[in-house]
Amino acid sequence: MMKKPVVAVAGATGAVGREMLKTLEQRNFPAKEVICLASSRSAGTGISFKDQELTVRELGVNSFDGVDLAIFSAGGAISEKYAPIAVKSGCVVVDNSNAWRMDKDVPLVVPEVNPEALEKHRGIIANPNCSTIQMVVVLKPLHDAGTIKRVIVSTYQAVSGSGQKAVEELETQVKQLLSMQEAEPKVYPYQIAFNCLPHIDVFLENDYTREEMKMVNETKKIMGDYNIKVSATTVRVPVFYGHSESVNIETEKKITPREARAILSQAPGVTVLDNPSENIYPMPIFAAGEDDIFVGRIREDETIDNGLNMWIVADNIRKGAALNTVQISELLVANNLLRTP
Ligand code: A2P
Repeated sequence: MMKKPVVAVAGATGAVGREMLKTLEQRNFPAKEVICLASSRSAGTGISFKDQELTVRELGVNSFDGVDLAIFSAGGAISEKYAPIAVKSGCVVVDNSNAWRMDKDVPLVVPEVNPEALEKHRGIIANPNCSTIQMVVVLKPLHDAGTIKRVIVSTYQAVSGSGQKAVEELETQVKQLLSMQEAEPKVYPYQIAFNCLPHIDVFLENDYTREEMKMVNETKKIMGDYNIKVSATTVRVPVFYGHSESVNIETEKKITPREARAILSQAPGVTVLDNPSENIYPMPIFAAGEDDIFVGRIREDETIDNGLNMWIVADNIRKGAALNTVQISELLVANNLLRTP
């Protein structure tokens, strides 16, 4: 019988870390023990998991002794420093940060799209950016059916993607503004309540943001096709949970909206919500707390021969982060891949 792994969650007190623990619990992940790691600020505090109260430990160089699987969501700098330390101590790392995603020795995995990439891992597996995950799960079956040549995407991203402090910032600013006080921006450069910021992560030399370039580069790597052209605009909107995306694709072979709906209704992890006459379409208020990715507003792009427009919504903390890392972890256990080089 397979040995149950000892699992550590680094960043266990954060927005994603807490959802990871919830997801491990809900899916009854076969862990021998779960260890919660965070900064010295929260060391000693308790987190409930199943019927236990787990005590948060401070993350340090010895945190991974005796650990088989570590799931990281404590920011890029922490992953960059501690993931190699964890691997050296014999632990397989599933990392939710941006630190390792484009490393050629690191598989970037969405289980519905490229589970086979896991086979070649060398200790670290990267979890893609949340906006990329929800897009590629929908694009992959369409790419298989008609070969996507070009993608144009604009995102409407929830504040929870920036962590717990950003969730609190939106809440505080809404209260401040509704009581005629000034909104005080701390996490974001401007007020996020009742506003939209066309600025996620830092600006790069090409005038795109790093978030936009993550969508461009990660899509190609996950889909295993570097010929797909991707153009992205990423926008932060005052929504707590659930990223939305307007996605336009051009394919080599024509796919009609009816065919696309049929293909997507069979696709793993996807729910089609598309009945305009009944006002049925995906929205963050429906997606929050759900595992699936929702797609609707599927219609022909009438300006080109083979084009489709669609609207894709998912819970960014769940499928966009916690659930995807737990699904990767489940595959590692099921396929006996919890081994380091
Ligand atoms: P802590 O709560 O102790 O600050 P979020 O994504 O919601 O901002 O959460 C970030 C997570 O990363 C939290 O669990 C946070 O722990 C953790 N974290 C941040 N900085 C460090 C650090 N220097 N060492 C360990 N964990 C950290």
